[in-house]
Amino acid sequence: MELPDPDTLPRRDYLRGLVAAGGTAALAACLDTVDEETVPTGTPDERPSRQHAWNDVLDRDEAGNSRPPEHHVLLALDLAGVPDEADRERVETAFRSLERAYAYDPDGLLFTVGYGSSYFEQIGTEPPIPQPTAITSSEDPELDEFDTLVHLASNNPEVVLEAEEALLGEGTEPNGVEMDATLEGVFERGQPRRTGFVGEGLPAQYTEMDAVPDSVPEDAPFFMGFKSGFANSQAPEDRVTIQDGPYEGGTTTHVESLDLQLRTWFEQDDHFLRVAQLFSPEHAEQDLVPGIGEELGASTGIEQFVDRTAEDAADGLVGHAQKAARARDEDGTPPLLRRDFNTVDGDFPGVHFLVHQRSVADFVRVREAMAGADLAGSGVGQSHNNGILQYIFVNRRGNFLVPPRRQRSLPRQ
Ligand code: HEM
Repeated sequence: MELPDPDTLPRRDYLRGLVAAGGTAALAACLDTVDEETVPTGTPDERPSRQHAWNDVLDRDEAGNSRPPEHHVLLALDLAGVPDEADRERVETAFRSLERAYAYDPDGLLFTVGYGSSYFEQIGTEPPIPQPTAITSSEDPELDEFDTLVHLASNNPEVVLEAEEALLGEGTEPNGVEMDATLEGVFERGQPRRTGFVGEGLPAQYTEMDAVPDSVPEDAPFFMGFKSGFANSQAPEDRVTIQDGPYEGGTTTHVESLDLQLRTWFEQDDHFLRVAQLFSPEHAEQDLVPGIGEELGASTGIEQFVDRTAEDAADGLVGHAQKAARARDEDGTPPLLRRDFNTVDGDFPGVHFLVHQRSVADFVRVREAMAGADLAGSGVGQSHNNGILQYIFVNRRGNFLVPPRRQRSLPRQ
């Protein structure tokens, strides 16, 4: 991939372009542009036993919602052969080297390592995770077939690039710290390589792309123009943690990669309709979301409107969050911990919807509630006026088992 031009882009855009490009040349250009001394180093011992335990260190906004790290890489890996004990040690040493190079902090590096069903098949074990499949009737996604997924996340663009290169044995000293081992010989790079970003004002910087209209709000952290991930609509980390069995303390990851039809979203509909479709018709009627959602604080208040879902659909319009919230637990706890981010991979705006849940069945249940097939025909269509379905196109799905940290390196069970 061609490197972005530093002379034509603002600094932040240039750096994000380098993350999207990837590779040693992009890393070198990135390191030339940033002040590397600002990245804190760490120790493996400071990391908790759950790989997905990020909330304690994530930044928070004024209302107390977690703020996701700004830069993301989804690194796909394939086994080079059937691994043995020496490989396990090598992989663990590589991850521990990264943990010395970068603090357990969004300014350092947050990462998870997950394994797909093909990994378990290759080591001759019954996969504890289902193969991905299409979930809704309107999609025909590609399915992730690679063995291992490493999600790298940091507020610093050079960190995700450098950690990726270091793991693959293509960089020597990330953040000035020597790697005691790399994944070379055990893993090879798989496909696809995916990248993304999230943060206030970032989506609006892509309006030079044909598919990104000028009307993306200046301060929105996500392409569709609203905040997301309000504390009250996210699962607590405990709720997504596996409770028993060999992977007790772990979680699962589903990644749904989506394209967004932003021109239709912003140009066909007005703010009132966007709020109604994304949150609920009552949110629009009561003007609860006059801007990007700042006024909601830490809660969308969606629980007040969940019982009206079928009625709203029969009246001709139903909201995305309203539909999805139907799948909350009986006590009102949301079962999914969403850690999704924007992307322009393939030069098209989209979302890598990365989400943790205790079991993939939890994801499927919520995704079906969001699809709202049960509502179609009542007053809304399969996708028309049925939340945001008309504007999203599912390209790809993958399922991964994320073991607890002590078993993250080539798990055996
Ligand atoms: C382009 C894609 C998407 C966008 C822009 C989007 C946006 C949003 C927004 C703005 C909210 C309300 C604010 C919040 O509670 O965080 C929300 C809620 C939610 N969305 Fe999405 N979403 C997308 C895709 C998905 C997908 C693929 C799922 C998969 C199941 C999903 C599941 C949920 C859930 C579970 C909630 C919270 C419902 C509750 O309060 O219990 N979303 N989404």
